[in-house]
Amino acid sequence: MSELNKIVLKIISGGKGILAADESNGTMTKRLEAVDVPSTPENRLSFRETLFSSESMNEYIGGVILYDETIKQTTSFGKSIPDLISSSGALPGIKVDMGAKDLASSSEEKITEGLDGLRERLKNYYKLGARFTKWRAIYNISNKYPSKLAINSNAHALARYSALVQESKMVPIVEPEVLMDGDHSADLCLKKTSEVIKKCFEELILSKVDLSGIILKPNMILAGAQAKVKISNEEVSLKTLECLKNSVPSEVPGIAFLSGGQSEIEATENLNLINKNNDTNFIMTFSYGRALQQSALAVWSKNIKNTMAAQNIFNHRAKMCYLAAKGKWTNRLENK
Ligand code: G3H
Repeated sequence: MSELNKIVLKIISGGKGILAADESNGTMTKRLEAVDVPSTPENRLSFRETLFSSESMNEYIGGVILYDETIKQTTSFGKSIPDLISSSGALPGIKVDMGAKDLASSSEEKITEGLDGLRERLKNYYKLGARFTKWRAIYNISNKYPSKLAINSNAHALARYSALVQESKMVPIVEPEVLMDGDHSADLCLKKTSEVIKKCFEELILSKVDLSGIILKPNMILAGAQAKVKISNEEVSLKTLECLKNSVPSEVPGIAFLSGGQSEIEATENLNLINKNNDTNFIMTFSYGRALQQSALAVWSKNIKNTMAAQNIFNHRAKMCYLAAKGKWTNRLENK
């Protein structure tokens, strides 16, 4: 077993998953202002410190993805954020892309930037304690999109990023996200997501990335958020499995889904069904941002000094996601 594979398994084995707390300052500002909390470095730290000090970190969370500001912050009791995370047994990770920018020649689409100077930045993040990284590519979906240009350009960037990360002895999370926005059918999502993921692996292989040392972070297969015809959760799980079986090489140890705008319960239920129906060797778990944090943020914002109230909610969500990653979640457990 390679060192990278060991890191992967430490993060996602046994029902553990990833807390994606890597919102950029821009995104975090939107989230905080939506609940009437000013977006200061102190408040961003305070919410994150609340989550990272929760009891559930020990049992249910194998890794936390951080943003550049957070990985360099120190908690109110003097520990660095990476040390706080490591003390719970989870691994600190870091988002290393510099965001999605308009794609030249196809301005309605995006290309993720951040390769320039990445090797040097990675060295620094390793020193700060990071053992895995994230790079997110986003794709619009419609009959016309994603274009071949967007699919190829983003796959190429994800592969170059992954090779550099492995060279730095860290595990790359490869996140090609086909967005939920739109009125497209689930079948179109299945077709386009498969195309996107297949191209990513073509490029990863060309860049000689060790596939046993990555985590794939895809979207689930869903009808568009504005689609009139939705599919059942059972169908979501079956179509998601169909997509992954057709497009992910068997050397990949694990898949950690993004929640992508699904509600907390929906993201949990879909993950649970994916695991119940999982007839592959892939570990299937969560790497959720909103679906782990939304309710905790709402409670925390009412009284940011009452950390326990927010932690109780977060502990519950983390436990529900952990059970879903084992296929052992039921709706009844939500009200206990
Ligand atoms: O890149 C996206 C985040 O890591 C996951 O966030 O679960 O809210 O989609 P989400």
